[in-house]
Amino acid sequence: SHQQTWLGKKVLITAGPTFEDLDPVRFIGNRSSGQMGFAIAAAAAQKGAEVTLIAGPVNLDTPTGVTRINVRSAMQMFSQVQAHYASVDIMIGAAAVADYRLAQPSSHKIKKQPNQDELTLTLIKNPDIIAWVAQQVDKPYVVGFAAETQQLADYARQKRLQKGLDMICANQVGDGQGFEVDENALLVMTATDEVALPKQAKYSLAVALLAQLRKQLDITKG
Ligand code: C5P
Repeated sequence: SHQQTWLGKKVLITAGPTFEDLDPVRFIGNRSSGQMGFAIAAAAAQKGAEVTLIAGPVNLDTPTGVTRINVRSAMQMFSQVQAHYASVDIMIGAAAVADYRLAQPSSHKIKKQPNQDELTLTLIKNPDIIAWVAQQVDKPYVVGFAAETQQLADYARQKRLQKGLDMICANQVGDGQGFEVDENALLVMTATDEVALPKQAKYSLAVALLAQLRKQLDITKG
């Protein structure tokens, strides 16, 4: 049965935003709700996969049967992915990872200076987690996301190649879709196929995505 095909498959998923601390009380974050990644985790576990979910700071319940690891920053997410990628069949990067972090977060609350009208923060680049996984010799099948506001297919196609991903799921943001909304549509792209999954609730979209993934895995495994 279809159920059987996911049984025992190991899936690693990143989801949610990352928060990059400035000091003990402030951070730089983003609007990712984590819903898409959590929906994929829930759907994969429901189909019998062994799911590990590395979650940034989100307000979502852990889906039934899913092993959840909470992280806060991109560096923490990277460490957890490095610890787990080699033992899974599939990695899905649904997290909205901060591109930059503070070069020197302050260990004390940064004080407002009465005579200082400008404050300059120096940021340094975070590692690209999914691109790192895609470069490893013992890499799993790697699935990334691309949220774009324009030229969706072109940017996503480029991003898949640049990051060395097996599959990329492109979604248009804005327009009542993508971040902070319950519905989403995806353009699923591999080296050989491009399939449009129409706008629907994130859980049913996750189920449709897993069906596409299953097809690709059958093809690649011959
Ligand atoms: O480059 P961009 O952030 O648009 O790429 C999105 C994809 O790359 C998502 O799958 C996201 O989880 C992943 N990513 C990552 N590490 C980063 C930045 C993005 O894994 N530092």
